[in-house]
Amino acid sequence: MEKQTDLSEAEIAVHWQEEGYYHAPVSFVVQANLRDADVFKRFSPENFPECYKEYADLLSWYKYWDKTLDTSNAPFWRWFVGGKINASYNCVDRHLEKHRNKTAIHFVPELEQERIQHITYQELYVRVNEMAALLRNLCGLEVGNRVTLHMPMVPELAITMLACARIGVIHSQVFSGFSGKACAERIVDSGSRVLITMDGYYRGGTMQDQKEKADIAVAEAASQGYAVEKVLIWQRYPGKHSSPQPLVQGRDVVLNEALKSYRGTRIEPMQMPAEAPLFLMYTSGTTGTPKGCQHSTGGYLAYVAATSKFIQDIHPEDVYWCMADIGWITGHSYIVYGPLALAASSVIYEGLPTYPDAGRPWRIAEELGVNIFHTSPTAIRALRRAGPDEPKKYNYHFKHMTTVGEPIEPEVWRWYYETVGKSEAAIVDTWWQTENGGFLCSTVPALHPMKPGSAGPALPGIYPVIYDEDGNEIPRGANKAGNICIRNPWPGIFQTIWGDPERFVRQYYARYNKREGSKDWRDWPYFAGDGAVQSADGYYRILGRIDDVINVAGHRLGTKEIESAALTVPEVAEAAVVPVADEIKGRVPDLYVALKPGAKPSHELEERISKAVTTEISPIARPRKVWIVADMPKTRSGKIMRRVLAAVSSGKDAGDVSTLANPEVVADLRKMAETAKV
Ligand code: WT7
Repeated sequence: MEKQTDLSEAEIAVHWQEEGYYHAPVSFVVQANLRDADVFKRFSPENFPECYKEYADLLSWYKYWDKTLDTSNAPFWRWFVGGKINASYNCVDRHLEKHRNKTAIHFVPELEQERIQHITYQELYVRVNEMAALLRNLCGLEVGNRVTLHMPMVPELAITMLACARIGVIHSQVFSGFSGKACAERIVDSGSRVLITMDGYYRGGTMQDQKEKADIAVAEAASQGYAVEKVLIWQRYPGKHSSPQPLVQGRDVVLNEALKSYRGTRIEPMQMPAEAPLFLMYTSGTTGTPKGCQHSTGGYLAYVAATSKFIQDIHPEDVYWCMADIGWITGHSYIVYGPLALAASSVIYEGLPTYPDAGRPWRIAEELGVNIFHTSPTAIRALRRAGPDEPKKYNYHFKHMTTVGEPIEPEVWRWYYETVGKSEAAIVDTWWQTENGGFLCSTVPALHPMKPGSAGPALPGIYPVIYDEDGNEIPRGANKAGNICIRNPWPGIFQTIWGDPERFVRQYYARYNKREGSKDWRDWPYFAGDGAVQSADGYYRILGRIDDVINVAGHRLGTKEIESAALTVPEVAEAAVVPVADEIKGRVPDLYVALKPGAKPSHELEERISKAVTTEISPIARPRKVWIVADMPKTRSGKIMRRVLAAVSSGKDAGDVSTLANPEVVADLRKMAETAKV
């Protein structure tokens, strides 16, 4: 593999000093689900992989597995082979006996005057069954079929996912903020005949037209020769069509109407092999198109249920709010599958955290009695900037808080701890990725002290290692960063990249593979693609991506995707994207473009390029600035030197530029950056 660290995000990572420890309050420790430090002995390498039975036993199985971990087709790990299980049954049916009338989902609409909905486990059961029946009967969906969802943050999204899981249909939810085109790409890649969406939803106080994106997605897929047969449309307000787009006869189905014929229908959950795929989640990777990460049923569900219980400390009586979007893996694992597997009450909030003001999350927490809160550094920074004193005004109490998705600055961490958490909550900083299913590094909240800016040690049963470029292990406390890898498989790890097993091996396992063709898991460290350092106490600090992926507000965006979006503008000849540090979002893309001969730079053109990125991908990919340059810094072989552009964008020294074919452009770029003042 080519050395890519010179373009890295990790390079612009802040160099924080070692921080002191904070201890969870005794009141938290005494009630915590995991207080027994022996867990690390039980999950030590000698007991691997059988230790994971403890996780799987949190679930109800139709049939136990014969083999805990099958490595015969390494690195395509197979967990709990021979086991039979259903995810929908585990998240719904099995709770009816004890928790029938307990709230499963609190739905908080963005408009504050709209009432919060409380959906009990019984109601969830009814609605999941009816939807499963519709998917089977109206759409003819069968085990193993894929369905693309492009839904906002509404309970119908969880209902749809669980309905798919009930009948063995693989769901692929695409973040609602993604464009119709981005959705189409995922429809085609996954081979979905059915698209499920909602007519509209509120964001920032205005009704968004989501149905329009479905029309675009279907048209775009058609232009690639791919036919979507049905578009199922939930109505945000049942009985009312909230999108200006008309229904397409024969293709569009209004779900609220169609579901009426399924009233009271019950669908037996399918007894799925533990290894059956549960869902696909697309994420950006180093090259080309987004990758559909394929997650399993048994291993995944066991891993998210256990980490929800032991790291999130969810008890059935807790009110748990993860403010992420279900369109990302965090929402799948820690809004839907993990919490519901534990019979928790999970909050789904439709809108922006700062709408209509920065007090909103704290009012929601107060009204619902939320005691476990989960969000990202980006949201924390935004809430802190918009309302540093807001949390004090509300009478809520968190026992536990999570941060996820990007490194959190110690100063931001302290505001989270002291002001949001009122110094009475345990915080976990959880490091993991779309590919991983669930947390990899975090403190166990009742067992380890917290350290601002550090994710903490590895979870039980996870054995990380930091390698240098040559594959030497960097010992703890060496004060040197390297590539963090996980030595062993774990039940939550994704099974493959949908339709591209070679890329799966190449990208995640080839880098430090010890013996080609080996069937021993010890030969296949999982390469995460993050830079990290481990301090003497064993805590890991994650520095950021080392590949050409930018982590914007906790979400991975492929630089290649952004560059190809820019290239859809006819005047653009070349495009290069680099990450720059951003006060709120952690990182944002800066976009450099060179124009075709004859094209004239203008503000209007910059706008058009920026617009192309938002329509091709999503507003979250919008560049901080579009720089139209006369010439890109290039190597003699003609490769654009992104490292130089990144240095210019960050106001850093570009280092040795003597090997460039055109070293003189560096001075011009600097001058441009200085006069522009972003
Ligand atoms: C990348 C994964 C994890 C689900 C949400 C994002 C970065 C994630 C942390 C953390 C520092 C973190 C890494 C990782 N990241 N959590 N606690 N501290 N960095 O999932 O889109 O797959 O992104 O997010 O760089 O590789 P994702």
